[in-house]
Amino acid sequence: MCGIIGYTGKQKASPILLASLKRLEYRGYDSCGMASLNGNNIIVVRKGTGRIERVNAKVDFLSLTGKVGIAHTRWATHGNVTMENAHPFTSCDGEYALVHNGILENYVELKRQLVEKGHHFTSTTDTEVLVHLIEENMKQAKDIIKAIKETSEQAKGAFTFLLLSKKSGDIYCFRKDSPLIIGVGENEFFASSDMTSFLEYTNKAIILENYELAILNDECTIYDLAAGKEIKKEISTIDWTAEQATKDGYPHFMLKEIFEEAEVSKQALDQDPAKLAELVTLLTQAKNVYFLGSGTSYRACLIASIYFAKLCHRNFMPILGSEFKTYQNLFDNETVLFAISQSGETADVLEGIKIAKSKGAKVVSLVNVMGSTIMRESEQFLTLNAGPEIAVASTKAFTSQVLILVMLAYALNNQLAEGKEHLNEVIFQFEIIMKQSDFIKELSKEVLNKQNLFLIGRGVAFPVAMEGELKIKEIAYIHADALAGGELKHHTLALIEPGVSCIALVPNDETKDDMINNIMQIKARGGIIIGISSEKLDIFDHYIPLAKVALEPIVIIPILQLIAYHLSILRGNDPDFPRNLAKSVTVL
Ligand code: M6R
Repeated sequence: MCGIIGYTGKQKASPILLASLKRLEYRGYDSCGMASLNGNNIIVVRKGTGRIERVNAKVDFLSLTGKVGIAHTRWATHGNVTMENAHPFTSCDGEYALVHNGILENYVELKRQLVEKGHHFTSTTDTEVLVHLIEENMKQAKDIIKAIKETSEQAKGAFTFLLLSKKSGDIYCFRKDSPLIIGVGENEFFASSDMTSFLEYTNKAIILENYELAILNDECTIYDLAAGKEIKKEISTIDWTAEQATKDGYPHFMLKEIFEEAEVSKQALDQDPAKLAELVTLLTQAKNVYFLGSGTSYRACLIASIYFAKLCHRNFMPILGSEFKTYQNLFDNETVLFAISQSGETADVLEGIKIAKSKGAKVVSLVNVMGSTIMRESEQFLTLNAGPEIAVASTKAFTSQVLILVMLAYALNNQLAEGKEHLNEVIFQFEIIMKQSDFIKELSKEVLNKQNLFLIGRGVAFPVAMEGELKIKEIAYIHADALAGGELKHHTLALIEPGVSCIALVPNDETKDDMINNIMQIKARGGIIIGISSEKLDIFDHYIPLAKVALEPIVIIPILQLIAYHLSILRGNDPDFPRNLAKSVTVL
């Protein structure tokens, strides 16, 4: 969470930082700020609370004239959402400005020590400690690299930061547990939490590892602070384009990303056969396989687990990222942890990976962002090939995850060709569903003002319903509850009364007859049913048609995404930036 960006080069920094910052806004949007060296070599800071456009209208970031600068967009953790708590922070002597992504765990103690030494704090954040600590360490060290190294030894937690120095005009870019990527342009450098923020300017990048420090000026010099030496690192070429990270005429990233699903799904299935086979062998030979994911990615794990059980008769248990510790005793050197993550940076999942590795387990992953930490922590990995996903609500990445995992289940059962055939039918249906977006919007109006919404499904359709529930809560801010149809009679029927709405997922599979019974139970109590099915049943009050295909429950996914999207818009929300959330959740 939080996005950081730095620029140094021949151009005025502020327009570049502002454009890049907007592309990082999905990482947090509580407050933002920028610091740049002005003509008199003084660090000037501008900041404010709220979304970037709003802050810019107030403080005019573009009035910063320097050719070097740093900027930040915040997702608040420590300290309220106030102007004082917005980054960047400066040292007492005005020599340094700093932006930070992460959480400094021991900041209370460090702050106490620094206050005793006479440092003056202006905020209640953990971050501000870092800039004062570097300033303090400089007094003895007299060398900024030594001072940063010392700081990195004293600080605990995640503290990736950019430090702008007034005297040298250099940017010091240090990584610890939150991503940091250096963009290498023509006579200019960028440092960012996410490569999409500088893609407009360069597609050449260096991915920093923990405890690496890049010093940006006319050159980029990199040190491994743990090893205490300068190092050379490979410059990679990013195959994403700046255009992929634009709305391309759509009103929102989310809608664009839903509409991209058919195309992206084709790319998802286009995996390197050798890598796929290698992974299948590993999964086949493993004594135990556990999926690990958070939020929407966890729902992909649930769906995958059902297909592995159905097709391959294997029990690949899904574990929620944040619940990993409860299950840590299950891991040993005959176990595979299969991590699923769009960003490849989710802290809950990374924590699980570290523990699993320490117990000798093998880690494999399915990620979207190339070069991400989870990818680099994995022995084997597949990529989603979904292109940049900007909207906080995950859509195209989710469908890609599901498709790839189902393809793997077929492959494990020696039915790869048949599986691909079924999945291609699904992809064809995605295209048809996009044409029904307006119809789905009209239907969404039926539940627009509901306090509660229920979604029921059985088998694979149950975790699909759970994903629909998540999306509706996340962006429409309607309380939704997904249930396995058979569970209703055990508790939630108590909430069904005349006028209560329920979205019923009724694929044409072994769950259909039971689902009809469950729907009858709701109807008998006056509930209203929006049925999603390949057959228009009399018991539906409203009906969304599905085509009869082998993997029908998967086809329901974009329908639910569109319902959530339209509800969000109809309720006046911004689906790309749901309140209190951020896309990349790098805190525990
Ligand atoms: O990047 P990841 O897939 O690891 O992210 C996991 C969750 O934070 C993410 O899926 C979140 O639940 C989405 N915003 C839901 O739309």
